[in-house]
Amino acid sequence: MQKVEDKIYYVGVNDREKHLFENLWPLPHGVSYNSYLILDDKTALVDTVDICYSDRFLQQVEILLDGRKLDYLIINHMEPDHSGSIRLLKQKYPDVILVGTPKAFDMINGFFGAAIADNKMEVKDGHKLSLGEHQLTFYTAPMVHWPEVMFTYDETVKLLFSADAFGTFGTIDGGVTDEQIDTELHMQEMYRYYSNIVGKYGNPVQKALSKLASIEVKTICSTHGPIWKKRMEEAVSIYDRLSRYEAEEGVVIAYGSMYGNTEQMAEAIAEGCVAGGIHKVILHSVSKSHQSYILSDIFRYKGLILGSPTYSNVLYPGVESLLSKIVVREIRNRYLGLFGSFTWAGAAARHLQTFSENSKMELISNALEIKQSLSQGSYAECVALGKRMAECIKG
Ligand code: FEO
Repeated sequence: MQKVEDKIYYVGVNDREKHLFENLWPLPHGVSYNSYLILDDKTALVDTVDICYSDRFLQQVEILLDGRKLDYLIINHMEPDHSGSIRLLKQKYPDVILVGTPKAFDMINGFFGAAIADNKMEVKDGHKLSLGEHQLTFYTAPMVHWPEVMFTYDETVKLLFSADAFGTFGTIDGGVTDEQIDTELHMQEMYRYYSNIVGKYGNPVQKALSKLASIEVKTICSTHGPIWKKRMEEAVSIYDRLSRYEAEEGVVIAYGSMYGNTEQMAEAIAEGCVAGGIHKVILHSVSKSHQSYILSDIFRYKGLILGSPTYSNVLYPGVESLLSKIVVREIRNRYLGLFGSFTWAGAAARHLQTFSENSKMELISNALEIKQSLSQGSYAECVALGKRMAECIKG
């Protein structure tokens, strides 16, 4: 339990046990579920934690309250990694007033039953709540990344409780702010967190950011990862750039390969990229790299080159699965290259080409396809594809 600002305490928890976030995304460095307690004339808790950690969480709240009643539970986000302890909290503090958007209460009714919201305060954009010294304003942030999401701004200390926005993977060990702990890993993981969890909702993120443009923020308290103070602008900038689908110079080559022939194409294309002056070239075998890392790099870099062997007359399963995730996230503002292979009847290149026609990326040339194995001629074509990508990126 650490002090964040005058009268504001961190009461979140670290999860080092869960393997997959949302049962999908690997957590090699764990994750934190952040919750904050404001002890003013009135007391208010901002969000709760995953139900697996309810006991520890409630204990922390009880110690800090030290016999005082809990006046408000502010619900910025209803995803169960943050709302999971609401039922138990309500049992312990039956008079607590739940504060949230109408959509949050719709979810509360569905998840916990209407009785739990017998004492509630529905808020809309711009509504205020005074806790005494701390003056709160609520800003709705729909679809960042759920519809009920809101941000809570503490005008007194210029602090924003931002729900999942500006969140990242990685536990926070020994300290909670970026002034206390090394946050290099959290900054790197922010790309993976954004692209996998929030990535589909670039426009809503932009709308939320524009709403915040008129207020002064010195501290951001997200629901995951460190509290941003000294690196706050960097964190905001990552979310801003990624939600605009802006990219850095670099190429991601994501391919499937059963016996190495398609992989040899990928290697030759990479040679072409580097020969063309691109130094950041990342090859991902879809059978080895988890898709969360591939998506993270696709969000980060300007060039994407996809390759697949023909498998049962369609795309290689790992490539097909990756494409569906790219489509869901409507990734745009990228240069796209394609390549494929077959042994007796080609299909991969055709399917990749169809994907490109429905995507929002700029295809740099028609899909390159080889039969059986790389020849001298096709090797040169692959290198040329890489060089063409480098030219496009370099402009
Ligand atoms: Fe961390 Fe969208 O819940």
